[in-house]
Amino acid sequence: MSGKTAKLTLPDGTEHTLPVVIGSEAEPALDIRALRQNTGYVTLDSGYMNTGATTSAITYLDGEKGILRYRGYNIEDLAEKSTFVETSYLLINGKLPTKAELEDFSVKLTRHSMIHEGMRHFFEGFPPGSHPMAGLSAMVTSLSAYYPDCLDRTAPMDLHLTRILSKVRTIAAFSYKKTIGQPIMYPRNALSYCANFLHMMFAVPAEPYEPDPIIVKALNQLLILHADHEQNCSTSTVRMVGSSDANVYAAVAAGILALWGPLHGGANQAVIEMLEIIKDPNGPYQGDYKKFIAEVKDKKSNQRLMGFGHRVYKNYDPRAKILKKMTDEVLNHLGIKDPMLDMAKGLEEVALSDDYFISKKLYPNVDFYSGILYRAIGIPTPMFTVMFALGRIPGWLAHWKEMVDDPTTKIGRPRQIYTGETQRAYVPIESR
Ligand code: ACO
Repeated sequence: MSGKTAKLTLPDGTEHTLPVVIGSEAEPALDIRALRQNTGYVTLDSGYMNTGATTSAITYLDGEKGILRYRGYNIEDLAEKSTFVETSYLLINGKLPTKAELEDFSVKLTRHSMIHEGMRHFFEGFPPGSHPMAGLSAMVTSLSAYYPDCLDRTAPMDLHLTRILSKVRTIAAFSYKKTIGQPIMYPRNALSYCANFLHMMFAVPAEPYEPDPIIVKALNQLLILHADHEQNCSTSTVRMVGSSDANVYAAVAAGILALWGPLHGGANQAVIEMLEIIKDPNGPYQGDYKKFIAEVKDKKSNQRLMGFGHRVYKNYDPRAKILKKMTDEVLNHLGIKDPMLDMAKGLEEVALSDDYFISKKLYPNVDFYSGILYRAIGIPTPMFTVMFALGRIPGWLAHWKEMVDDPTTKIGRPRQIYTGETQRAYVPIESR
Protein backbone atom coordinates (compact mmCIF):
# COMPACT_ATOMS: atom_id res chain seq x y z
CA MET A 1 0.00 0.00 0.00
CA SER A 2 1.25 3.50 -0.81
CA GLY A 3 -0.70 5.34 1.91
CA LYS A 4 -2.34 7.35 -0.90
CA THR A 5 -6.06 7.11 -1.67
CA ALA A 6 -8.49 7.94 -4.47
CA LYS A 7 -12.11 9.08 -4.09
CA LEU A 8 -15.00 7.43 -5.90
CA THR A 9 -18.31 9.28 -6.06
CA LEU A 10 -21.31 7.03 -6.72
CA PRO A 11 -24.55 8.14 -8.49
CA ASP A 12 -26.27 8.64 -5.12
CA GLY A 13 -23.55 11.14 -4.18
CA THR A 14 -21.86 8.95 -1.55
CA GLU A 15 -18.08 9.06 -1.58
CA HIS A 16 -15.84 6.06 -1.13
CA THR A 17 -12.14 5.94 -0.52
CA LEU A 18 -10.03 3.51 -2.51
CA PRO A 19 -6.47 2.72 -1.41
CA VAL A 20 -3.81 3.32 -4.07
CA VAL A 21 -1.21 0.60 -4.62
CA ILE A 22 2.09 1.51 -6.31
CA GLY A 23 4.22 -1.22 -7.89
CA SER A 24 8.02 -1.29 -7.64
CA GLU A 25 8.27 0.32 -11.10
CA ALA A 26 5.81 3.05 -10.00
CA GLU A 27 2.74 1.61 -11.75
CA PRO A 28 -0.32 2.94 -9.90
CA ALA A 29 -3.41 0.84 -9.17
CA LEU A 30 -6.70 1.33 -7.35
CA ASP A 31 -7.35 -1.36 -4.77
CA ILE A 32 -11.00 -2.31 -5.23
CA ARG A 33 -10.93 -5.44 -3.09
CA ALA A 34 -13.46 -4.01 -0.63
CA LEU A 35 -15.53 -2.19 -3.27
CA ARG A 36 -18.51 -4.54 -3.49
CA GLN A 37 -18.62 -5.10 0.25
CA ASN A 38 -18.60 -1.34 0.93
CA THR A 39 -20.72 -0.08 -1.97
CA GLY A 40 -22.59 -2.97 -3.64
CA TYR A 41 -20.84 -2.08 -6.92
CA VAL A 42 -18.56 -4.32 -8.96
CA THR A 43 -16.35 -3.26 -11.88
CA LEU A 44 -16.89 -4.32 -15.51
CA ASP A 45 -13.72 -5.00 -17.48
CA SER A 46 -14.15 -7.51 -20.32
CA GLY A 47 -10.82 -8.96 -21.41
CA TYR A 48 -9.29 -7.65 -18.14
CA MET A 49 -7.73 -4.73 -20.01
CA ASN A 50 -7.55 -2.65 -16.80
CA THR A 51 -7.57 -5.28 -14.10
CA GLY A 52 -4.56 -6.29 -12.06
CA ALA A 53 -5.52 -9.83 -11.06
CA THR A 54 -2.62 -10.16 -8.64
CA THR A 55 0.58 -8.58 -7.40
CA SER A 56 3.61 -10.42 -8.77
CA ALA A 57 7.38 -10.17 -8.39
CA ILE A 58 8.28 -12.29 -11.43
CA THR A 59 8.17 -10.27 -14.65
CA TYR A 60 8.03 -6.57 -15.41
CA LEU A 61 6.98 -5.33 -18.78
CA ASP A 62 6.34 -1.84 -20.09
CA GLY A 63 4.47 -2.17 -23.37
CA GLU A 64 4.77 1.53 -24.23
CA LYS A 65 8.55 1.54 -23.88
CA GLY A 66 9.14 -2.04 -25.10
CA ILE A 67 10.76 -3.21 -21.83
CA LEU A 68 10.71 -6.81 -20.61
CA ARG A 69 12.54 -8.02 -17.49
CA TYR A 70 12.50 -11.31 -15.62
CA ARG A 71 13.12 -10.82 -11.89
CA GLY A 72 14.68 -7.44 -12.75
CA TYR A 73 17.04 -8.70 -15.47
CA ASN A 74 16.64 -7.32 -19.01
CA ILE A 75 15.44 -9.86 -21.57
CA GLU A 76 18.24 -8.74 -23.93
CA ASP A 77 20.90 -9.69 -21.32
CA LEU A 78 19.28 -13.01 -20.48
CA ALA A 79 18.87 -13.95 -24.17
CA GLU A 80 22.51 -13.17 -24.84
CA LYS A 81 24.22 -14.41 -21.65
CA SER A 82 21.98 -16.95 -19.92
CA THR A 83 20.73 -20.44 -20.73
CA PHE A 84 17.15 -21.66 -20.64
CA VAL A 85 17.90 -23.80 -17.56
CA GLU A 86 19.45 -20.88 -15.68
CA THR A 87 16.58 -18.56 -16.68
CA SER A 88 14.07 -21.20 -15.54
CA TYR A 89 15.81 -21.35 -12.15
CA LEU A 90 15.72 -17.55 -11.98
CA LEU A 91 12.00 -17.36 -12.74
CA ILE A 92 11.00 -20.13 -10.35
CA ASN A 93 13.34 -19.25 -7.46
CA GLY A 94 13.59 -15.49 -7.81
CA LYS A 95 17.38 -15.26 -8.06
CA LEU A 96 20.20 -16.29 -10.36
CA PRO A 97 21.63 -19.62 -9.16
CA THR A 98 25.14 -20.05 -7.79
CA LYS A 99 27.35 -22.51 -9.70
CA ALA A 100 26.44 -25.29 -7.25
CA GLU A 101 22.71 -24.49 -7.40
CA LEU A 102 22.74 -24.47 -11.19
CA GLU A 103 24.62 -27.77 -11.29
CA ASP A 104 22.13 -29.33 -8.88
CA PHE A 105 19.14 -28.03 -10.86
CA SER A 106 20.62 -29.26 -14.17
CA VAL A 107 21.31 -32.72 -12.72
CA LYS A 108 17.73 -32.95 -11.45
CA LEU A 109 16.36 -31.95 -14.86
CA THR A 110 18.55 -34.59 -16.49
CA ARG A 111 17.52 -37.29 -14.01
CA HIS A 112 13.81 -36.63 -14.50
CA SER A 113 13.74 -36.53 -18.28
CA MET A 114 12.35 -40.07 -18.79
CA ILE A 115 8.62 -40.70 -18.83
CA HIS A 116 6.94 -43.81 -17.46
CA GLU A 117 7.00 -46.58 -20.08
CA GLY A 118 3.24 -46.94 -19.61
CA MET A 119 2.81 -43.49 -21.15
CA ARG A 120 4.27 -44.69 -24.44
CA HIS A 121 0.93 -46.39 -25.16
CA PHE A 122 -0.79 -43.00 -25.07
CA PHE A 123 1.22 -41.94 -28.12
CA GLU A 124 -0.05 -45.02 -30.00
CA GLY A 125 -3.65 -44.11 -29.23
CA PHE A 126 -3.63 -40.61 -30.74
CA PRO A 127 -4.96 -40.50 -34.31
CA PRO A 128 -2.26 -39.83 -36.93
CA GLY A 129 -2.15 -36.16 -37.88
CA SER A 130 -3.79 -34.98 -34.65
CA HIS A 131 -2.52 -31.66 -33.36
CA PRO A 132 0.41 -32.15 -30.96
CA MET A 133 -1.05 -29.61 -28.50
CA ALA A 134 -3.93 -32.07 -27.87
CA GLY A 135 -1.39 -34.76 -27.04
CA LEU A 136 0.83 -32.48 -24.97
CA SER A 137 -1.99 -31.24 -22.73
CA ALA A 138 -3.37 -34.76 -22.27
CA MET A 139 0.06 -36.17 -21.37
CA VAL A 140 0.81 -33.42 -18.87
CA THR A 141 -2.52 -34.08 -17.14
CA SER A 142 -1.70 -37.82 -17.21
CA LEU A 143 1.59 -37.21 -15.38
CA SER A 144 -0.51 -36.46 -12.28
CA ALA A 145 -1.71 -40.07 -12.38
CA TYR A 146 1.90 -41.31 -12.22
CA TYR A 147 2.85 -38.94 -9.37
CA PRO A 148 -0.30 -39.02 -7.19
CA ASP A 149 1.51 -37.37 -4.26
CA CYS A 150 0.97 -34.12 -6.22
CA LEU A 151 -2.60 -34.24 -4.88
CA ASP A 152 -1.30 -33.71 -1.35
CA ARG A 153 -0.91 -29.96 -1.27
CA THR A 154 0.89 -30.06 2.08
CA ALA A 155 3.78 -32.07 0.54
CA PRO A 156 6.83 -30.31 -1.01
CA MET A 157 6.19 -29.47 -4.66
CA ASP A 158 9.70 -28.71 -5.98
CA LEU A 159 10.19 -32.17 -7.46
CA HIS A 160 6.92 -31.92 -9.37
CA LEU A 161 8.03 -28.62 -10.89
CA THR A 162 11.33 -30.19 -11.97
CA ARG A 163 9.50 -33.17 -13.44
CA ILE A 164 7.17 -31.00 -15.50
CA LEU A 165 10.00 -28.84 -16.85
CA SER A 166 12.04 -31.88 -17.81
CA LYS A 167 9.37 -34.28 -19.04
CA VAL A 168 7.46 -31.84 -21.23
CA ARG A 169 10.54 -31.78 -23.46
CA THR A 170 10.52 -35.59 -23.73
CA ILE A 171 6.77 -35.71 -24.36
CA ALA A 172 7.05 -33.08 -27.12
CA ALA A 173 9.87 -34.94 -28.88
CA PHE A 174 8.21 -38.37 -28.53
CA SER A 175 4.97 -37.10 -30.00
CA TYR A 176 6.87 -35.65 -32.97
CA LYS A 177 8.66 -38.97 -33.59
CA LYS A 178 5.31 -40.75 -33.53
CA THR A 179 3.81 -38.40 -36.12
CA ILE A 180 6.65 -39.12 -38.57
CA GLY A 181 6.76 -42.86 -37.84
CA GLN A 182 10.33 -42.87 -36.48
CA PRO A 183 11.40 -44.76 -33.35
CA ILE A 184 11.33 -42.82 -30.14
CA MET A 185 14.79 -41.62 -29.05
CA TYR A 186 15.44 -41.74 -25.32
CA PRO A 187 17.19 -38.77 -23.68
CA ARG A 188 20.99 -38.78 -23.35
CA ASN A 189 22.10 -37.66 -19.90
CA ALA A 190 25.41 -36.25 -21.17
CA LEU A 191 23.59 -33.55 -23.15
CA SER A 192 22.38 -30.16 -21.96
CA TYR A 193 18.63 -29.43 -21.77
CA CYS A 194 18.31 -27.95 -25.27
CA ALA A 195 20.84 -30.30 -26.90
CA ASN A 196 18.94 -33.25 -25.44
CA PHE A 197 15.70 -31.97 -26.91
CA LEU A 198 17.30 -31.65 -30.36
CA HIS A 199 18.69 -35.18 -29.96
CA MET A 200 15.26 -36.61 -29.09
CA MET A 201 13.71 -34.73 -32.03
CA PHE A 202 16.25 -35.34 -34.77
CA ALA A 203 18.49 -38.32 -33.92
CA VAL A 204 17.76 -41.79 -35.31
CA PRO A 205 19.13 -45.07 -33.90
CA ALA A 206 20.89 -45.86 -37.19
CA GLU A 207 23.55 -43.15 -36.98
CA PRO A 208 25.28 -40.83 -34.52
CA TYR A 209 23.84 -37.35 -33.98
CA GLU A 210 25.66 -34.35 -32.54
CA PRO A 211 23.55 -31.25 -31.96
CA ASP A 212 24.89 -28.14 -33.74
CA PRO A 213 26.08 -25.68 -31.02
CA ILE A 214 24.71 -22.68 -32.97
CA ILE A 215 21.26 -24.32 -33.07
CA VAL A 216 21.55 -25.22 -29.37
CA LYS A 217 22.29 -21.55 -28.63
CA ALA A 218 19.38 -20.40 -30.83
CA LEU A 219 17.01 -22.82 -29.10
CA ASN A 220 18.16 -21.57 -25.69
CA GLN A 221 17.43 -18.01 -26.80
CA LEU A 222 14.05 -18.91 -28.27
CA LEU A 223 12.94 -20.63 -25.09
CA ILE A 224 14.28 -17.80 -22.88
CA LEU A 225 12.30 -15.26 -24.93
CA HIS A 226 9.12 -17.27 -24.37
CA ALA A 227 9.78 -18.13 -20.72
CA ASP A 228 7.41 -15.63 -19.11
CA HIS A 229 5.18 -12.72 -19.98
CA GLU A 230 3.34 -11.93 -16.73
CA GLN A 231 -0.49 -12.18 -16.67
CA ASN A 232 -1.17 -13.29 -20.26
CA CYS A 233 -4.08 -15.57 -21.23
CA SER A 234 -2.32 -18.90 -20.50
CA THR A 235 -0.57 -17.76 -17.31
CA SER A 236 -3.80 -16.31 -15.97
CA THR A 237 -5.39 -19.68 -16.77
CA VAL A 238 -2.68 -21.52 -14.81
CA ARG A 239 -3.34 -19.21 -11.85
CA MET A 240 -7.11 -19.55 -12.18
CA VAL A 241 -7.05 -23.36 -12.30
CA GLY A 242 -4.37 -23.53 -9.59
CA SER A 243 -6.42 -21.24 -7.34
CA SER A 244 -8.97 -24.04 -6.91
CA ASP A 245 -6.15 -26.15 -5.39
CA ALA A 246 -6.12 -28.36 -8.49
CA ASN A 247 -2.73 -30.06 -8.76
CA VAL A 248 0.16 -28.40 -10.59
CA TYR A 249 -0.03 -30.81 -13.57
CA ALA A 250 -3.69 -29.91 -14.09
CA ALA A 251 -2.91 -26.19 -13.84
CA VAL A 252 -0.06 -26.41 -16.37
CA ALA A 253 -2.15 -28.57 -18.74
CA ALA A 254 -4.84 -25.86 -18.63
CA GLY A 255 -2.16 -23.28 -19.51
CA ILE A 256 -1.13 -25.40 -22.51
CA LEU A 257 -4.72 -25.46 -23.73
CA ALA A 258 -5.13 -21.70 -23.35
CA LEU A 259 -1.89 -21.17 -25.27
CA TRP A 260 -3.19 -23.23 -28.21
CA GLY A 261 -5.45 -20.47 -29.58
CA PRO A 262 -4.27 -18.55 -32.68
CA LEU A 263 -4.66 -15.23 -30.87
CA HIS A 264 -2.08 -16.42 -28.31
CA GLY A 265 0.59 -19.12 -28.76
CA GLY A 266 -1.01 -20.48 -31.91
CA ALA A 267 -0.03 -17.28 -33.73
CA ASN A 268 3.42 -18.62 -34.70
CA GLN A 269 1.77 -21.38 -36.73
CA ALA A 270 -0.79 -18.91 -38.09
CA VAL A 271 2.04 -16.61 -39.31
CA ILE A 272 3.61 -19.37 -41.41
CA GLU A 273 0.21 -20.42 -42.77
CA MET A 274 -0.48 -16.78 -43.66
CA LEU A 275 2.90 -16.44 -45.43
CA GLU A 276 2.23 -19.67 -47.34
CA ILE A 277 -1.14 -18.38 -48.55
CA ILE A 278 0.41 -15.06 -49.65
CA LYS A 279 3.23 -16.91 -51.48
CA ASP A 280 1.02 -19.53 -53.18
CA PRO A 281 1.31 -19.00 -56.99
CA ASN A 282 -2.22 -20.35 -57.36
CA GLY A 283 -3.63 -18.45 -54.39
CA PRO A 284 -5.38 -15.09 -54.17
CA TYR A 285 -2.17 -13.02 -53.62
CA GLN A 286 0.52 -14.78 -55.69
CA GLY A 287 3.30 -13.20 -53.66
CA ASP A 288 1.78 -9.73 -53.66
CA TYR A 289 1.98 -8.91 -49.95
CA LYS A 290 0.87 -5.32 -50.52
CA LYS A 291 -2.46 -6.72 -51.76
CA PHE A 292 -2.67 -8.75 -48.56
CA ILE A 293 -1.95 -5.68 -46.42
CA ALA A 294 -4.70 -3.78 -48.27
CA GLU A 295 -7.09 -6.59 -47.38
CA VAL A 296 -6.02 -6.58 -43.71
CA LYS A 297 -6.86 -2.86 -43.55
CA ASP A 298 -10.34 -3.52 -44.91
CA LYS A 299 -12.44 -4.25 -41.83
CA LYS A 300 -14.95 -6.26 -43.86
CA SER A 301 -12.29 -8.84 -44.79
CA ASN A 302 -11.88 -9.98 -41.18
CA GLN A 303 -8.23 -10.60 -42.08
CA ARG A 304 -5.49 -9.91 -39.54
CA LEU A 305 -1.77 -9.60 -40.06
CA MET A 306 -0.80 -12.51 -37.84
CA GLY A 307 2.27 -11.93 -35.65
CA PHE A 308 1.42 -8.23 -35.44
CA GLY A 309 -0.17 -6.38 -32.55
CA HIS A 310 -0.18 -7.15 -28.87
CA ARG A 311 -2.46 -6.44 -25.95
CA VAL A 312 0.30 -4.75 -23.97
CA TYR A 313 3.09 -3.84 -26.42
CA LYS A 314 2.33 -0.59 -28.14
CA ASN A 315 5.93 -0.47 -29.33
CA TYR A 316 8.25 -2.99 -31.02
CA ASP A 317 8.12 -6.20 -28.95
CA PRO A 318 11.72 -6.50 -27.62
CA ARG A 319 11.53 -10.26 -28.16
CA ALA A 320 10.71 -9.80 -31.86
CA LYS A 321 13.80 -7.57 -32.24
CA ILE A 322 16.08 -10.28 -30.78
CA LEU A 323 14.37 -12.99 -32.85
CA LYS A 324 14.69 -11.08 -36.12
CA LYS A 325 18.47 -10.80 -35.62
CA MET A 326 18.78 -14.42 -34.50
CA THR A 327 16.75 -15.65 -37.49
CA ASP A 328 19.19 -13.90 -39.85
CA GLU A 329 22.17 -15.41 -38.01
CA VAL A 330 20.83 -18.98 -37.99
CA LEU A 331 19.75 -18.90 -41.62
CA ASN A 332 23.21 -17.58 -42.60
CA HIS A 333 24.91 -20.26 -40.50
CA LEU A 334 22.81 -23.01 -42.11
CA GLY A 335 23.17 -21.47 -45.56
CA ILE A 336 19.39 -21.33 -45.95
CA LYS A 337 17.71 -18.77 -48.17
CA ASP A 338 14.08 -18.79 -47.07
CA PRO A 339 11.71 -16.72 -49.23
CA MET A 340 9.37 -16.66 -46.20
CA LEU A 341 11.93 -14.50 -44.34
CA ASP A 342 12.15 -12.03 -47.23
CA MET A 343 8.36 -11.90 -47.37
CA ALA A 344 8.07 -11.40 -43.60
CA LYS A 345 10.58 -8.54 -43.77
CA GLY A 346 8.71 -7.03 -46.70
CA LEU A 347 5.41 -7.26 -44.85
CA GLU A 348 6.98 -5.69 -41.77
CA GLU A 349 8.41 -2.80 -43.81
CA VAL A 350 5.09 -2.07 -45.52
CA ALA A 351 3.12 -2.36 -42.28
CA LEU A 352 5.48 -0.17 -40.24
CA SER A 353 5.19 2.66 -42.74
CA ASP A 354 1.41 2.39 -43.11
CA ASP A 355 -0.86 4.73 -41.23
CA TYR A 356 -3.29 1.93 -40.25
CA PHE A 357 -0.59 0.09 -38.29
CA ILE A 358 1.14 3.27 -37.03
CA SER A 359 -2.07 4.79 -35.67
CA LYS A 360 -3.07 1.54 -33.93
CA LYS A 361 0.49 1.02 -32.65
CA LEU A 362 0.71 -2.44 -34.22
CA TYR A 363 4.25 -3.83 -34.30
CA PRO A 364 5.67 -7.32 -34.86
CA ASN A 365 5.25 -9.53 -31.80
CA VAL A 366 7.33 -12.53 -30.67
CA ASP A 367 5.51 -14.82 -33.10
CA PHE A 368 6.25 -12.88 -36.28
CA TYR A 369 9.75 -14.33 -36.77
CA SER A 370 9.78 -17.36 -34.44
CA GLY A 371 8.07 -19.64 -36.99
CA ILE A 372 10.72 -18.91 -39.64
CA LEU A 373 13.44 -19.76 -37.15
CA TYR A 374 11.69 -22.98 -36.08
CA ARG A 375 11.40 -23.99 -39.76
CA ALA A 376 15.13 -23.40 -40.24
CA ILE A 377 15.89 -25.60 -37.22
CA GLY A 378 13.73 -28.33 -38.76
CA ILE A 379 10.72 -28.08 -36.45
CA PRO A 380 7.50 -28.77 -38.37
CA THR A 381 4.73 -26.15 -38.36
CA PRO A 382 2.22 -28.03 -36.14
CA MET A 383 4.95 -28.24 -33.46
CA PHE A 384 5.47 -24.47 -33.24
CA THR A 385 2.93 -23.93 -30.49
CA VAL A 386 4.40 -26.91 -28.61
CA MET A 387 7.75 -25.08 -28.74
CA PHE A 388 6.10 -22.00 -27.27
CA ALA A 389 4.64 -24.18 -24.50
CA LEU A 390 8.08 -25.68 -23.78
CA GLY A 391 9.49 -22.19 -23.35
CA ARG A 392 6.57 -20.95 -21.22
CA ILE A 393 6.69 -23.83 -18.70
CA PRO A 394 9.07 -22.09 -16.23
CA GLY A 395 6.89 -18.97 -16.30
CA TRP A 396 3.75 -20.99 -15.55
CA LEU A 397 5.54 -22.85 -12.77
CA ALA A 398 6.88 -19.62 -11.26
CA HIS A 399 3.39 -18.07 -11.25
CA TRP A 400 1.81 -21.23 -9.84
CA LYS A 401 4.41 -21.30 -7.05
CA GLU A 402 4.04 -17.59 -6.32
CA MET A 403 0.27 -18.03 -6.12
CA VAL A 404 0.24 -21.07 -3.82
CA ASP A 405 2.92 -19.53 -1.55
CA ASP A 406 0.88 -16.35 -1.18
CA PRO A 407 -1.30 -16.59 1.98
CA THR A 408 -3.73 -14.02 0.54
CA THR A 409 -4.57 -16.16 -2.53
CA LYS A 410 -8.27 -16.83 -2.99
CA ILE A 411 -10.01 -19.01 -5.53
CA GLY A 412 -10.43 -17.03 -8.76
CA ARG A 413 -14.07 -16.19 -9.18
CA PRO A 414 -15.00 -13.07 -11.18
CA ARG A 415 -18.39 -11.40 -10.94
CA GLN A 416 -20.65 -10.58 -13.89
CA ILE A 417 -23.29 -8.05 -14.82
CA TYR A 418 -26.38 -10.08 -15.62
CA THR A 419 -28.18 -8.83 -18.76
CA GLY A 420 -30.66 -11.68 -19.30
CA GLU A 421 -34.38 -11.95 -18.64
CA THR A 422 -35.72 -10.99 -15.23
CA GLN A 423 -37.83 -13.57 -13.40
CA ARG A 424 -40.62 -15.08 -15.55
CA ALA A 425 -43.14 -17.89 -15.16
CA TYR A 426 -42.40 -21.32 -16.59
CA VAL A 427 -44.52 -21.99 -19.72
CA PRO A 428 -45.74 -25.59 -20.25
CA ILE A 429 -44.56 -27.02 -23.60
CA GLU A 430 -48.05 -27.18 -25.14
CA SER A 431 -48.50 -23.43 -24.57
CA ARG A 432 -45.21 -22.29 -26.18
N1 ACO B 1 -3.85 -7.03 -37.98
C1 ACO B 1 -4.73 -6.05 -38.31
N2 ACO B 1 -5.39 -5.28 -37.42
C2 ACO B 1 -5.13 -5.51 -36.12
C3 ACO B 1 -4.24 -6.50 -35.69
C4 ACO B 1 -3.58 -7.27 -36.67
N3 ACO B 1 -2.72 -8.23 -36.33
N4 ACO B 1 -4.18 -6.52 -34.34
C5 ACO B 1 -5.02 -5.56 -33.93
N5 ACO B 1 -5.60 -4.95 -35.01
C6 ACO B 1 -6.55 -3.81 -34.97
C7 ACO B 1 -7.95 -4.29 -34.61
O1 ACO B 1 -8.72 -4.57 -35.76
C8 ACO B 1 -8.48 -3.11 -33.83
O2 ACO B 1 -8.87 -2.14 -34.75
P1 ACO B 1 -10.12 -1.13 -34.39
O3 ACO B 1 -9.69 -0.36 -33.19
O4 ACO B 1 -10.29 -0.30 -35.62
O5 ACO B 1 -11.30 -2.03 -34.12
C9 ACO B 1 -7.24 -2.55 -33.10
O6 ACO B 1 -6.13 -2.96 -33.91
C10 ACO B 1 -7.07 -3.10 -31.69
O7 ACO B 1 -7.12 -4.52 -31.78
P2 ACO B 1 -7.74 -5.46 -30.66
O8 ACO B 1 -8.03 -6.79 -31.24
O9 ACO B 1 -8.87 -4.72 -29.98
O10 ACO B 1 -6.51 -5.52 -29.65
P3 ACO B 1 -6.31 -6.60 -28.54
O11 ACO B 1 -5.38 -6.01 -27.57
O12 ACO B 1 -7.62 -7.09 -28.02
O13 ACO B 1 -5.66 -7.82 -29.33
C11 ACO B 1 -4.10 -9.28 -30.31
C12 ACO B 1 -4.31 -8.13 -29.32
C13 ACO B 1 -5.12 -10.39 -30.05
C14 ACO B 1 -2.70 -9.86 -30.12
C15 ACO B 1 -4.27 -8.74 -31.74
O14 ACO B 1 -3.33 -7.71 -32.00
C16 ACO B 1 -4.18 -9.83 -32.81
O15 ACO B 1 -5.19 -10.48 -33.10
N6 ACO B 1 -2.97 -10.03 -33.41
C17 ACO B 1 -2.76 -11.10 -34.37
C18 ACO B 1 -2.58 -12.42 -33.64
C19 ACO B 1 -1.23 -12.54 -32.96
O16 ACO B 1 -0.20 -12.25 -33.55
N7 ACO B 1 -1.26 -13.02 -31.71
C20 ACO B 1 -0.03 -13.24 -30.93
C21 ACO B 1 0.04 -12.28 -29.82
S1 ACO B 1 1.57 -12.44 -28.98
C22 ACO B 1 1.37 -13.78 -28.00
O17 ACO B 1 0.33 -14.16 -27.59
C23 ACO B 1 2.53 -14.45 -27.70
